[in-house]
Amino acid sequence: DWTMATYREEAIAKIRAQVGNGRVICGLSGGVDSSVAALLIHEAIGDQLTCVFVDHGLLRKDEAEQVVSLFRNHYNIPLVHADASDLFLGALEGVTDPEQKRKTIGKLFIEVFEAEAKKIGGADFLAQGTLYPDVIESVSFHGGPSVTIKSHHNVGGLPERMDMKLVEPLRELFKDEVRALGRELGLPEAFVGRHPFPGPGLAIRIPGEITREKIGILQQADAIYLDEIRKAGLYDVIWQAFAVLLPVRTVGVMGDGRTYDHVLALRAVTSVDGMTADFYPFDMNFLGRAATRIINEVRGINRVVYDVTSKPPGTIEWE
Ligand code: XMP
Repeated sequence: DWTMATYREEAIAKIRAQVGNGRVICGLSGGVDSSVAALLIHEAIGDQLTCVFVDHGLLRKDEAEQVVSLFRNHYNIPLVHADASDLFLGALEGVTDPEQKRKTIGKLFIEVFEAEAKKIGGADFLAQGTLYPDVIESVSFHGGPSVTIKSHHNVGGLPERMDMKLVEPLRELFKDEVRALGRELGLPEAFVGRHPFPGPGLAIRIPGEITREKIGILQQADAIYLDEIRKAGLYDVIWQAFAVLLPVRTVGVMGDGRTYDHVLALRAVTSVDGMTADFYPFDMNFLGRAATRIINEVRGINRVVYDVTSKPPGTIEWE
């Protein structure tokens, strides 16, 4: 891609000019934005960059391993894997309010990130995968007086607290351009095309109280759902697809026994930027297939429903 090859060269020159001999720290989430930012910066300044991956224990199945193995082993980028799931899940005990979940996770995220940054001797710059739409949204949402629909969790406030300057090489790009740039940089397709994933992760896909057991159940169900979506060739036409583990139990039958287990809701939407979205009109056979597999393979779920709400009036996430 000619445009992205040029963008890549210019962005690398800009990063070098901005950073000089300084040290850069980059928060890696496993999403496409921070991954592309990290690759670009690594290409520009090599080991002056260290990535920090704060693992809150609320990621999808196998995702933490994939991030660590790609960056550490494949790209050889210095990466700190802060496995802080005990800390996060401990702090989330008894927390049921969605905004409280976000605040708890956001605050701890900053604390863990700061502590890890200190351990490696600090840095002069903080790198972020901020995109153009983030720049716009932060004006209309967070800058506004009182219209916070959901307090999006990012590392806002961190650069001032830690006395770091920001490096944001994706600030002028839209999502599809970031993906093109990722391909240009050789980022594997599994990362380039990955659906967006919220910072608070599975915490906001488990309405009510979060437990390790519920996280495990949701991870299994979500992985089966995504597997079926990939097999049906639908992953790339859908903006986001995920499962939500409901705090509701219903009665079912299994063999000649009665079950009393969780309801799982499946969600899939198409969207251009996440600001508005349409529910995805799956074929009923697809939904039946996914539901049957989930109920047969995941202990703790005995009923599956599909969410047919668009945004507005719904939001994409349930919390
Ligand atoms: P909603 O649910 O507001 O989601 O329609 C719009 C997009 O934002 C993501 N989302 C979040 N991302 N922290 C994030 O980093 C959050 O707290 C958060 N809440 C929602 C959501 O996954 C969708 O892509």
